[in-house]
Amino acid sequence: MWHPPADAHSRRDFMRNGFASVALLCTLGTPGTSSRRRVVTSAAMRSQARSPFTPFRRDLPLIPELLPVRRTRRRDVYDLRIREGLAEVLPGFQTPIYGYDGVYPGPTVRARRGRTVVITQHNDLDFDSNVHLHGGYVPAGHDGHPMDVIAPGGSFEYHYPNHQDAATLWYHDHAHGRTSHTLYYGLLALYVLEDERERDLDLPAGDYDIPLAIADHSFNKDGSFRYVDNIDLGFRGDTILVNGAVSPRLRVDRRKYRFRLLNASNSRSYMLRLGRGRRMVQIAADGGLLARPVARRRIPFHPAERIDLVIDFSDYRPGTELVLHNEDGEGGTVAVMRFDVGRGGGREEFRVPRRLRSLETLPAPVSDRHWDLGFGSGAWQIGGRDFDHDRIDVRPRFRTSERWSFTNNSNRVHPMHIHGFLFRVLSRSSGPVHAGERLGWKDTIGVLPQETVTVEPWFGPYNGRYVFHCHALEHADRAMMLQLEVEA
Ligand code: C2O
Ligand code: CU
Repeated sequence: MWHPPADAHSRRDFMRNGFASVALLCTLGTPGTSSRRRVVTSAAMRSQARSPFTPFRRDLPLIPELLPVRRTRRRDVYDLRIREGLAEVLPGFQTPIYGYDGVYPGPTVRARRGRTVVITQHNDLDFDSNVHLHGGYVPAGHDGHPMDVIAPGGSFEYHYPNHQDAATLWYHDHAHGRTSHTLYYGLLALYVLEDERERDLDLPAGDYDIPLAIADHSFNKDGSFRYVDNIDLGFRGDTILVNGAVSPRLRVDRRKYRFRLLNASNSRSYMLRLGRGRRMVQIAADGGLLARPVARRRIPFHPAERIDLVIDFSDYRPGTELVLHNEDGEGGTVAVMRFDVGRGGGREEFRVPRRLRSLETLPAPVSDRHWDLGFGSGAWQIGGRDFDHDRIDVRPRFRTSERWSFTNNSNRVHPMHIHGFLFRVLSRSSGPVHAGERLGWKDTIGVLPQETVTVEPWFGPYNGRYVFHCHALEHADRAMMLQLEVEA
């Protein structure tokens, strides 16, 4: 089915929503470019015969894990270079990217609770960069605040204490104003934190524990990523990449797998469905395990969220091809990936226990705060304000919890993320909170158009200055972000 190229979309949406007066600045280059190139959308390319966009042609790339340069009794020490690189996203093409060690997606860090991870990040780019450990309990000075940047040629040693529950975290660039650009071009990676308690549950592990970084992209004719700015809708690509390959396939054994899904898209929300609505079992959300496994058939999945799923392929006959769909997609964004069920499997050694953890009870909230989300004075705003790094917008008390309500007065989804702290989801004005959100800790929550979502953050274990913002990155960059400071 034909759909207009992304730039036609954006222009129309701009007009309709009254954004026409917003100046679009694209002052950044793209990796490895110098000359002008002819712009041909991937939509046009897809219509060609034997297009590299045909889904399920490539095997799922497995993201490499980062090896420490040194292990001491309490620390794992790593060294990474933030630099330009090339990725073979489309077979036969070299796509210029920015990457941790020049790789897209960047190498996964496997961390153990109680062992400090130290990562020296060298900025080999010619503009400022920094690294935010998204979902991590990290002292403010190591959090990757948008104004704490590493200058070109410089480096910074990030310390991550890992005093928190096992969880699927991720790290990405956060230099203010250009995050939509740098994430799109590849500065993101997973950070898998493990602990004893989770290990004792015998959940699928090792080769049966697979991170899936999902993002939408578009392409120029030469195979480079094509980026079209749209402050209203955010970037929308016409192709889905999983771990850097177009809608790939994965050959699976007839047994249980754990998939750690990361929505690494700039602004796209998904509605995930397996086959014609087969069962997926959610075991974890952003902040780690849920209290118990939750069966799901459709999963809304917003930017920056993580969802850990167990899929049991022993329920399927050998030869079954199971597609993970995006119900909210169109054209090339409908098929996320495919699981091809093989014969073997051997004896199942993993299980999903009925109880995964006990959930902490929070102290009674000491404040109620309300945040309106909307567009005003040429920017996206929270509580009628846009980002000002010289202003602290809210000062919660250390080691207390508060009730925060976000009311979305716009027609766009705003995935709201708080740095440094985790929260529980209390209510949604649109209906009940799904168990997959209610029974665990979160750091990002999708606030739907015209909806009010109430969450309860706990302001520990570290104090200091952090930010909270919309994770639709085109919104965050202009300038849907505020500062909070927790004083000891
Ligand atoms: Cu994923 Cu402010 O971050
Ligand atoms: Cu937003």
